[in-house]
Amino acid sequence: MALNKAKIIELPKICDRRGNLSFIQNQTHVPFDIARVYWIYDVPGGQYRDGHAFRSQHELIVALSGSFDVVLKDGNETKRFHMSRSYYGLYVPPLTWREIDNFSTNSVALVLSSTTYNENDYIRDFNEFKAISNEQE
Ligand code: TYD
Repeated sequence: MALNKAKIIELPKICDRRGNLSFIQNQTHVPFDIARVYWIYDVPGGQYRDGHAFRSQHELIVALSGSFDVVLKDGNETKRFHMSRSYYGLYVPPLTWREIDNFSTNSVALVLSSTTYNENDYIRDFNEFKAISNEQE
Protein backbone atom coordinates (compact mmCIF):
# COMPACT_ATOMS: atom_id res chain seq x y z
CA MET A 1 0.00 0.00 0.00
CA ALA A 2 1.54 3.30 -1.10
CA LEU A 3 -0.09 5.09 1.84
CA ASN A 4 2.07 3.15 4.31
CA LYS A 5 5.17 4.56 2.61
CA ALA A 6 4.02 8.19 2.98
CA LYS A 7 5.86 9.81 5.86
CA ILE A 8 6.92 13.05 7.50
CA ILE A 9 10.63 13.72 7.00
CA GLU A 10 12.29 16.03 9.52
CA LEU A 11 14.65 18.40 7.71
CA PRO A 12 17.80 19.97 9.15
CA LYS A 13 17.15 23.15 11.13
CA ILE A 14 20.02 25.51 11.86
CA CYS A 15 18.88 27.91 14.56
CA ASP A 16 20.56 31.28 14.76
CA ARG A 17 19.68 34.63 16.34
CA ARG A 18 19.59 35.99 12.75
CA GLY A 19 16.84 33.49 11.89
CA ASN A 20 16.52 29.79 11.21
CA LEU A 21 17.73 27.96 8.12
CA SER A 22 16.61 24.62 6.71
CA PHE A 23 17.70 22.82 3.57
CA ILE A 24 17.01 19.81 1.40
CA GLN A 25 19.83 18.01 -0.36
CA ASN A 26 19.27 15.60 -3.23
CA GLN A 27 19.04 11.95 -2.04
CA THR A 28 20.14 12.89 1.52
CA HIS A 29 16.79 14.25 2.71
CA VAL A 30 14.44 12.98 -0.01
CA PRO A 31 14.20 9.34 -1.16
CA PHE A 32 14.35 10.29 -4.88
CA ASP A 33 16.29 12.46 -7.32
CA ILE A 34 14.82 15.95 -7.53
CA ALA A 35 13.90 16.85 -11.12
CA ARG A 36 11.51 19.78 -10.52
CA VAL A 37 10.48 22.28 -7.88
CA TYR A 38 7.19 24.18 -7.86
CA TRP A 39 5.24 26.14 -5.32
CA ILE A 40 1.63 27.05 -4.67
CA TYR A 41 1.06 30.56 -3.32
CA ASP A 42 -1.44 33.43 -3.26
CA VAL A 43 -4.06 30.88 -2.25
CA PRO A 44 -7.17 32.48 -0.72
CA GLY A 45 -7.60 31.35 2.92
CA GLY A 46 -9.66 28.16 3.28
CA GLN A 47 -9.14 27.19 -0.40
CA TYR A 48 -8.94 23.63 -1.70
CA ARG A 49 -6.82 22.11 -4.52
CA ASP A 50 -8.40 19.31 -6.52
CA GLY A 51 -7.23 15.79 -5.86
CA HIS A 52 -5.08 13.62 -8.10
CA ALA A 53 -2.46 10.90 -7.99
CA PHE A 54 0.66 10.26 -10.02
CA ARG A 55 1.55 7.03 -11.77
CA SER A 56 5.31 7.33 -11.21
CA GLN A 57 6.09 10.68 -9.62
CA HIS A 58 7.39 10.97 -6.04
CA GLU A 59 6.90 14.25 -4.16
CA LEU A 60 7.98 16.02 -1.01
CA ILE A 61 5.64 18.79 0.20
CA VAL A 62 6.80 21.51 2.61
CA ALA A 63 4.73 24.31 4.19
CA LEU A 64 7.30 27.08 3.64
CA SER A 65 4.92 29.60 5.14
CA GLY A 66 1.52 29.42 6.84
CA SER A 67 -0.28 26.10 6.99
CA PHE A 68 -2.48 23.67 5.06
CA ASP A 69 -3.62 20.06 5.26
CA VAL A 70 -2.51 17.33 2.87
CA VAL A 71 -5.06 14.51 2.62
CA LEU A 72 -3.69 11.22 1.28
CA LYS A 73 -5.84 8.27 0.20
CA ASP A 74 -5.09 4.81 -1.15
CA GLY A 75 -8.67 3.88 -1.98
CA ASN A 76 -9.36 2.28 1.41
CA GLU A 77 -7.66 4.45 3.98
CA THR A 78 -7.34 8.24 4.41
CA LYS A 79 -4.63 10.12 6.30
CA ARG A 80 -4.65 13.87 6.98
CA PHE A 81 -1.35 15.69 7.64
CA HIS A 82 -1.46 19.23 9.01
CA MET A 83 1.61 21.00 7.61
CA SER A 84 2.64 24.14 9.47
CA ARG A 85 6.43 23.97 9.99
CA SER A 86 9.01 24.63 7.27
CA TYR A 87 11.40 21.99 8.68
CA TYR A 88 9.00 19.11 8.02
CA GLY A 89 8.44 17.59 4.57
CA LEU A 90 5.70 15.13 3.68
CA TYR A 91 6.94 12.38 1.36
CA VAL A 92 4.20 11.26 -1.03
CA PRO A 93 4.97 8.08 -3.03
CA PRO A 94 3.51 7.33 -6.47
CA LEU A 95 -0.04 5.96 -6.65
CA THR A 96 -1.22 7.98 -3.66
CA TRP A 97 -4.32 10.15 -4.07
CA ARG A 98 -3.55 13.62 -2.69
CA GLU A 99 -5.67 16.65 -1.96
CA ILE A 100 -4.58 19.88 -0.28
CA ASP A 101 -7.10 21.92 1.70
CA ASN A 102 -7.50 24.27 4.64
CA PHE A 103 -4.88 26.74 3.32
CA SER A 104 -4.19 29.60 5.69
CA THR A 105 -3.93 33.10 4.20
CA ASN A 106 -0.43 33.75 2.80
CA SER A 107 0.57 30.08 2.90
CA VAL A 108 3.22 28.76 0.51
CA ALA A 109 3.42 25.07 -0.38
CA LEU A 110 6.78 24.01 -1.81
CA VAL A 111 6.73 20.77 -3.81
CA LEU A 112 9.83 18.83 -4.87
CA SER A 113 9.14 16.30 -7.59
CA SER A 114 11.06 13.34 -8.99
CA THR A 115 10.00 14.05 -12.60
CA THR A 116 9.65 16.96 -14.98
CA TYR A 117 6.03 17.98 -15.67
CA ASN A 118 4.12 15.32 -17.56
CA GLU A 119 0.33 15.49 -17.75
CA ASN A 120 0.26 11.78 -18.73
CA ASP A 121 1.56 10.91 -15.26
CA TYR A 122 -1.58 12.38 -13.64
CA ILE A 123 -4.57 10.29 -12.61
CA ARG A 124 -7.34 12.84 -12.09
CA ASP A 125 -10.31 10.51 -11.66
CA PHE A 126 -10.64 8.86 -8.23
CA ASN A 127 -12.38 5.72 -9.56
CA GLU A 128 -9.66 5.24 -12.17
CA PHE A 129 -7.08 5.71 -9.40
CA LYS A 130 -8.74 3.01 -7.27
CA ALA A 131 -8.81 0.59 -10.19
CA ILE A 132 -5.12 1.20 -11.00
CA SER A 133 -3.96 0.92 -7.38
CA ASN A 134 -5.93 -2.31 -6.87
CA GLU A 135 -4.17 -3.79 -9.92
CA GLN A 136 -0.81 -3.06 -8.28
CA GLU A 137 -1.59 -5.08 -5.12
P1 TYD B 1 -1.98 20.84 -11.14
O1 TYD B 1 -0.83 19.93 -10.86
O2 TYD B 1 -3.22 20.24 -11.73
O3 TYD B 1 -2.36 21.61 -9.81
P2 TYD B 1 -2.94 20.96 -8.49
O4 TYD B 1 -1.93 19.95 -8.05
O5 TYD B 1 -3.06 22.04 -7.51
O6 TYD B 1 -4.23 20.34 -8.85
O7 TYD B 1 -1.44 22.01 -12.05
C1 TYD B 1 -2.25 23.13 -12.36
C2 TYD B 1 -1.85 23.61 -13.75
O8 TYD B 1 -0.47 24.01 -13.78
C3 TYD B 1 -2.03 22.56 -14.82
O9 TYD B 1 -2.66 23.18 -15.93
C4 TYD B 1 -0.65 22.18 -15.23
C5 TYD B 1 0.23 23.33 -14.82
N1 TYD B 1 1.54 22.88 -14.31
C6 TYD B 1 2.66 22.99 -15.11
O10 TYD B 1 2.60 23.44 -16.27
N2 TYD B 1 3.86 22.58 -14.60
C7 TYD B 1 3.98 22.07 -13.34
O11 TYD B 1 5.11 21.70 -12.92
C8 TYD B 1 2.81 21.95 -12.54
C9 TYD B 1 2.88 21.38 -11.15
C10 TYD B 1 1.61 22.37 -13.06
